[in-house]
Amino acid sequence: MSKLKIAVQKSGRLNEKSLLLLKECGIKISNGTSKLKAEAQNFPIEVLFLRDDDIPQYVEQQVADIGILGENEVLEKGKKVSVVEQLGFAACRLSLAIPKNKNYQGVRDFEGKRIATSYPNILAEFLQNNAVKAEIEEIGGSVEIAPSIGLADAVCDIVSTGSTLLTNGLKEVETVLNSQAVMISSGQLSTEKSELLEKLLFRIRAVRNASANKYILLNSPDSAIEAISALLPGMKSPTILPLNRKGWSSIHSVVKEDEFWDVIDQLKSLGAEGILVVPIEKMIV
Ligand code: PRP
Ligand code: ZN
Repeated sequence: MSKLKIAVQKSGRLNEKSLLLLKECGIKISNGTSKLKAEAQNFPIEVLFLRDDDIPQYVEQQVADIGILGENEVLEKGKKVSVVEQLGFAACRLSLAIPKNKNYQGVRDFEGKRIATSYPNILAEFLQNNAVKAEIEEIGGSVEIAPSIGLADAVCDIVSTGSTLLTNGLKEVETVLNSQAVMISSGQLSTEKSELLEKLLFRIRAVRNASANKYILLNSPDSAIEAISALLPGMKSPTILPLNRKGWSSIHSVVKEDEFWDVIDQLKSLGAEGILVVPIEKMIV
């Protein structure tokens, strides 16, 4: 039986979260990231630990069937791979940054300047769209030190928490691109491997739905059941259970995490009491 080969980042921002996602999908990986390869004990999958920059190429060449990496790398490398799923973690942006003591008026300030980056293609396109001519200094890593050693006037690099820029005396002045972790595929998988990918995606969606939703339980006066149910449509419809107290019921439903605070005030004004909100582990819609 063939195994689905998945490439994940060897070390860096995406590594831990990529492995956590597989774990939450019930996939047990036997050894750590010290080796190049790891096998799962309970799912026909083989994990390859690679530099994220190399993942698009390995997937295009089908050394790996699928890969988890930042959308930024996918766009930069321009390989023949397709994004099969947005994974919603490792959100970051590719930004232009300059020394913090420099004034900034607008993107025209970059005219004639030297910009250090590991993303020459994305940056070139951005500059062209803004009709700015600047010199692009391509470097593989530690881009943030380029201005302080006199290699460049500015940098174009990934910003996540912003601490790398801060510790290097730089300030972010333009966002070039927003990015997050995605899953890519070569689009040339055998039927057997496509089926495995579908199975994996099914699990990933269940995990992601679960974390985006909460289970909500509350007590409602019977007269408010209809109005409260309309606010909490749930997956099909809410569950209504009678309380051992006349005129009251318990309503169970599912609510989107980001809509919860908007709904809560309305629930209270409709007379809801004893509201409990609990996490969901997996959610199959
Ligand atoms: C980026 C970037 C910085 C860091 C920024 O590297 O080059 O080093 O993340 O994060 P912060 O704003 O939280 O400090 P990335 O993780 O993409 O790894 P790589 O470029 O070394 O592959
Ligand atoms: Zn990288």
